[in-house]
Amino acid sequence: MSTPNTVSSEPSIRIAPSVMCADLCNLETDIRELEAAGINMLHFDLMDAHFVPNMPIGLALIQQLRAKTDSTFDIHLMVEDNDFFVDAVAEIGVQQIAVHVESATHLDRTLSLIQAHGIKAGAALNPATPFSALAYVLERLDFVLVMTVNPGFAGQKLVPATLRKIAEGRAFLNERGVDLPIEVDGNVSFENIPKMVSAGADILVGGTSSVFQKSGSRLENIQQAQKAIALGLAERD
Ligand code: DX5
Ligand code: ZN
Repeated sequence: MSTPNTVSSEPSIRIAPSVMCADLCNLETDIRELEAAGINMLHFDLMDAHFVPNMPIGLALIQQLRAKTDSTFDIHLMVEDNDFFVDAVAEIGVQQIAVHVESATHLDRTLSLIQAHGIKAGAALNPATPFSALAYVLERLDFVLVMTVNPGFAGQKLVPATLRKIAEGRAFLNERGVDLPIEVDGNVSFENIPKMVSAGADILVGGTSSVFQKSGSRLENIQQAQKAIALGLAERD
């Protein structure tokens, strides 16, 4: 039995809508529509305007939404003080946190801090950062977040080399006997989803080019994304 927001066939591929792309002035309504369409995982981009020059949402929004839904909260930290934000969102109650290897002065310690909170720990990789940066923290990881755009803004175009990187990253993990979910984030469009899934992506961050596409309803967009996922699964070796 696959989880609600996945395609019926195994392996289950999850869609995590990116909350910064939602209608922030009617957020609860938007979340209810997504959950009615089968979504049960939400992606939150926490930015400090230092690691990346943006700050779309804050801690209060996550705190208030926590009281409104039981969905899995997937936190993507794009900040300089990772440990501060890890403790802050752990206090709120979240299920997984990804920190950028490029901003983590003490990556091993920060990943251990996340796991000590009983939260799944992820390493986020900018497009130019290779999987080899994870070589000595694999034991500390529960997932990997592959940025398919440069972090900080929605509405960007995929960095083409990242499709190859997803496949090579899956091989990197397999060669080390490590079976970790790969989450992809950035321009996860209806056109890119099949390529991302066939390359090995397990969790898709749905943003402006799919889930929040203006041309369709939330349900229509999620159904179209699920069709694209099925195409990608069919192309897997
Ligand atoms: C960007 C964020 C993404 C972003 C995706 O730094 O990490 O989650 O919201 O937006 P799209 O899907 O429009 O690229
Ligand atoms: Zn993100």
